[in-house]
Amino acid sequence: MASVTSLSDSVQQQLATALSAALPDAGSADPLLRRSDRADFQANGILALAKKAKANPRELATQVVEQVRSGDVIKDIEVSGPGFLNITIADRAITENLAARYADSDRLGVPFAAHPGTTVIDYAQPNVAKEMHVGHLRSAVIGDAVVQLLEFTGESVVRRHHIGDWGTQFGMLIQFLDEHPHELDHKSAQVSGEEAMSNLDRLYKAARKLFDSDEEFKTRARRRVVDLQAGDPHTLAVWQKFVDESKIYFFSVFEKLDMEIRDPDIVGESGYNDMLAETCRLLEESGVAVRSEGALCVFFEDVKGPDGNPVPLIVQKSDGGYGYAATDLSAIRDRVFNLKANSLLYVVDARQALHFRMVFETARRAGWLNDDVTAFQLAFGTVLGKDGKPFKTREGETVKLVDLLDEAVERATAVVREKAEKVGLSEQEVVENGRYVGIGAVKYADLSTSAVRDYKFDLDQMVSLNGDTSVYLQYAYARIKSILRKAGEARPTAHPELALAPAERALGLHLDQFGETVLEVAASHEPHKLASYLYQLASLLTTFYDQCPVLKAETPEQVENRLFLVDLTARTLHKGMDLLGIRTPERL
Ligand code: ARG
Repeated sequence: MASVTSLSDSVQQQLATALSAALPDAGSADPLLRRSDRADFQANGILALAKKAKANPRELATQVVEQVRSGDVIKDIEVSGPGFLNITIADRAITENLAARYADSDRLGVPFAAHPGTTVIDYAQPNVAKEMHVGHLRSAVIGDAVVQLLEFTGESVVRRHHIGDWGTQFGMLIQFLDEHPHELDHKSAQVSGEEAMSNLDRLYKAARKLFDSDEEFKTRARRRVVDLQAGDPHTLAVWQKFVDESKIYFFSVFEKLDMEIRDPDIVGESGYNDMLAETCRLLEESGVAVRSEGALCVFFEDVKGPDGNPVPLIVQKSDGGYGYAATDLSAIRDRVFNLKANSLLYVVDARQALHFRMVFETARRAGWLNDDVTAFQLAFGTVLGKDGKPFKTREGETVKLVDLLDEAVERATAVVREKAEKVGLSEQEVVENGRYVGIGAVKYADLSTSAVRDYKFDLDQMVSLNGDTSVYLQYAYARIKSILRKAGEARPTAHPELALAPAERALGLHLDQFGETVLEVAASHEPHKLASYLYQLASLLTTFYDQCPVLKAETPEQVENRLFLVDLTARTLHKGMDLLGIRTPERL
């Protein structure tokens, strides 16, 4: 199906053409079109353009009005104030535009991006043998939404889950498991995520205890790290057990999150082990990195410690070991040269901002990144408790992600159950919807504020039926579905000949903006702007209900046209929520 040109786009085009005709020297003239309360749109760009051309803005505006023949799309255009233009769209044009979107059931008329490329996105990166916490939630939720958005606009997306599966603590774990080989064995073939985590937890604690109390074990454990990095086959085999056990746990959490994570996309820190030496060699030979007190370092003009001395990025430690930075630099080489990315995206905690700034700058100096191949950290803020402090349990421990998700689902199920009888939901539907509402609430709370900001994890607010929550949007969707079920013989059908009520026009003009919103949000990696678009859509729908009866409208044509309007609204809500990773149950 063809993509649909938005009404604002065609008005923008007409105005730009008229402006260039009136001001041939102005080059590309932007009329600065905005939605407006006074008319449908207002163009504010003429003032600045007139000033530049030393022309009278009102005269210029009048010239533009004369050029723009009010016609199919523009019903009315007039000059206001010092040189603004107020523009009213024809009702017929609105309905016809929406009908074209409705006919394109897959994409709702949303165009593909003009110049799609290849993005490698680094997100959902928990650590092996460790419990997942709320920070991992944010990376997963934001990353997944950005993946969906980019793919929808035609971008090729390669997902990379850069899990923490390498490093010194594995020496201790491997050595312990090697000496107690049956600790990770399972009684049954089916291991639950929780079981896997509790195995790992138990093993970690036991290993740590021995490590702290037994000097000989400590020595054996340290030697084991060296074996691991050298690729000793037996050591690797034991290490693999840890990774596999952790993956069982990760997958169970991601499933709880209603999120698809694929095994081949999990390329952890260990995956770049073979590249580390080469990365260091390239950096040293090109002079990007220099030896300093035995370590291989990269220095930056503007990165200094509290004492005023430069703080380098350490690529290789003086004992020869490689750290987090060497791995990330190697991953950049892999993503740029093997995966052929032109955009690298990292959905990582803002507290790692300095690390990424230094890593990206190093890669730029090495020529791995440049104007055509860019890297960007989509940094996210901290999840806070209700008290505004970093989210901790009463005992001061980090909150387990699983506990949090379970509680959200529990609360949401209670909310769903309250209305279940009235809606006629079976117990199975209550359970299923409870899950979609609870997980949706957690995701939406994360996605509806700009990522860099900290946000408060407040379950009461998240599952509230009023306000900017996913439940509110899910109810808006389910309500439309219920109307459509009750419509009987009447089918949603566009009737462009009908005059539209103000609430219908407002809803329609907002629906018209869906494509632009999606393209903009995908390009700027700001899912919160899609959330706010959808919230506004649901609010406009509420106003529409107040002012325009659907099934009891005056004529059969009006009933059909309103069914068509709400159905397109439902599809838009559904698609938008889907892009955010949130389900919209049919009955709620
Ligand atoms: N595993 C890390 C953590 O839990 C996040 C990894 C981020 N990605 C990266 N390429 N460094 O903090």
